Amino acid sequence: LDVKVSNTGGNATSGYQYGIMFEDINYSGDGGIYAELIRNRAFQGDAVFPSTIEPWTAVGNAKLSLQNLSQPLSSALPTSLNVAASAGEAGISNPGYWGIDVKLQKYTGSFWVKGSYNESFTASLYNYLSNETLATVQVPSKASNSEWTEHAYTLTPEIAADNVNNSFQITFDASAADGSLDFNLISLFPPTYNDRPNGMRKDLMEALAELNPSFLRFPGGNNLEGNDPPYYLKWNETIGPLKDRPGYPGTWNYENTNGLGLIEYLHWCDDLHMEPVLAVWAGFYLSGPVIPEDQLQPYIEDALNQLEFITGDTSTRYGTLRSSLGYPDPWVIKYVEVGNEDNLGGGGPSYEAYRFQAFRDAINEKYPDIFVFASTTDYHFAETEDVGEDYHEYTRPDYFVGQFGFFDNFTAGQKTMIGEYATVQPNTAEGGGVDWDQARLPFPTWIGSVAEAVFLLGAERNADKIWGAAYAPTLQNLDSTQWVPDLISFTADTARDVLSTSYHAIKLLSAHRISTVLPMDTLDFGPVYYVAGYSNSSNSYIFKAAVYNSTETVDMNIAFEGVSEGAEASLMVLTAPDAESYNSLGSDVVKSSVTTLTAGSGGAVSFALPDLSVAVLEVKG
Ligand code: AHR
Repeated sequence: LDVKVSNTGGNATSGYQYGIMFEDINYSGDGGIYAELIRNRAFQGDAVFPSTIEPWTAVGNAKLSLQNLSQPLSSALPTSLNVAASAGEAGISNPGYWGIDVKLQKYTGSFWVKGSYNESFTASLYNYLSNETLATVQVPSKASNSEWTEHAYTLTPEIAADNVNNSFQITFDASAADGSLDFNLISLFPPTYNDRPNGMRKDLMEALAELNPSFLRFPGGNNLEGNDPPYYLKWNETIGPLKDRPGYPGTWNYENTNGLGLIEYLHWCDDLHMEPVLAVWAGFYLSGPVIPEDQLQPYIEDALNQLEFITGDTSTRYGTLRSSLGYPDPWVIKYVEVGNEDNLGGGGPSYEAYRFQAFRDAINEKYPDIFVFASTTDYHFAETEDVGEDYHEYTRPDYFVGQFGFFDNFTAGQKTMIGEYATVQPNTAEGGGVDWDQARLPFPTWIGSVAEAVFLLGAERNADKIWGAAYAPTLQNLDSTQWVPDLISFTADTARDVLSTSYHAIKLLSAHRISTVLPMDTLDFGPVYYVAGYSNSSNSYIFKAAVYNSTETVDMNIAFEGVSEGAEASLMVLTAPDAESYNSLGSDVVKSSVTTLTAGSGGAVSFALPDLSVAVLEVKG
């Protein structure tokens, strides 16, 4: 393939090309990136998922029961755990989210107690395979019969566990307690990313940081929407002290703690230097009910209140609320999305008829600089109206490759975000897109990742139309999964994260950002799909390519106008042993090579690319 890349013309990119989509699915928040180690720490429940003792168990001769005391810890956390015992060492044990990772580091926790007890509690980490206590601390009791008291503690293991079969325990001398004690909000955190209190799991944040993401789309996905009235993800129930956050019956079959709340999402954006793309609830429940037009106003106002909470100063009601919670500095919001896939389901027609416009008009009246994305996945809305849109694509490898030119005819203005995409099923002889009745891939496969790369290069080529793209879902706890495949899979063991084949492809494409897409003289796509451009940050020319379905290795000769003979070039290539190979626990099939090359006359660089490869060539300008 011979391509000459011009050094003039072309389109500037948005600067946001690669980002992250996040919702609590697959225990990706609770039990995932939100670093809390204790599962069911506050016995949260509702009509959908009633409070449960699971997975807590008794230590010693304790009898455990859930109680709704007349004096609860808080109105948000009305249910607590009564631990009754008459003599001996008694208490409670929690195995974490399918294990607890115990390392030689400081763990920080607290628990609330009500009852009469003047001795000390023992908090410990215990390995139940080896029957070894790994860390223990005495916590002098401040407990009282008349009120709830918080007990803070730290645990510093002297022994690291080589497996995650560990539990956290609190015990007390039952003979010194008056029959029973009540416990609630029992929490334990490892060190978190950037040492944030109530923060995020380090290994997963580090893996995401390596993707060099430019935006975070949150908090859904379906999880924003709620299945049935009255439950949807209410921002004001995810802020403030943990004892004031009720649970939420997430749409992925488990109760959310709301510990990962609005402020935590904004800190996440700060920590990874990502632009927030904030989704607000649009008045649809997944099971069908729709808030009708004449009752929509309070929900629009709630979205405005949420924006005021994030962006307002202390002259505003909600800015004052944020400041009172310890965050005096406002954040900036530039992008809002109204709902999620809201052209689907029973409410679809109302979305285009009035719903989206009502939200957008109200948001832009108060915040004219915010760009509001519509959440329909049906692009004709943006074709006919001058609106931004969030496009989603879950499909098969061949279909993705067929979509390389899909964005060519979109309207200009960087109005389209690809808010979710993934190869979810293998190719079939008949071709075509996804069949939701068929099984999905357990992990991304290499052929799927190359096909996604082709699709992403099609998006990069259309820099004037496409704002950015995010794979979905991002995270999967392998011990409780509701959706496959996922970008990063993990367990409680922080040393065993699975960075999928798609992760590696995105990391390569995202690390080499094109600032201006440049014209090329040859547009002969297939089996090589490609884009060229210039990077202002590295002052270099960039050529990105993916090879899909080639019967032979492809010889490439890429000439860059403006590059002198002798200029240094670097070629990075990803391959894998075969098309269907994938990464899983303990395996990484992706091979990465870096070769230094030299430009010949006319700024031409020659190399060869094998079938099913993703490559980036960077040439100093
Ligand atoms: O990414 C999983 C789900 O797929 C999202 O929640 C939803 O937006 C889409 O249908």
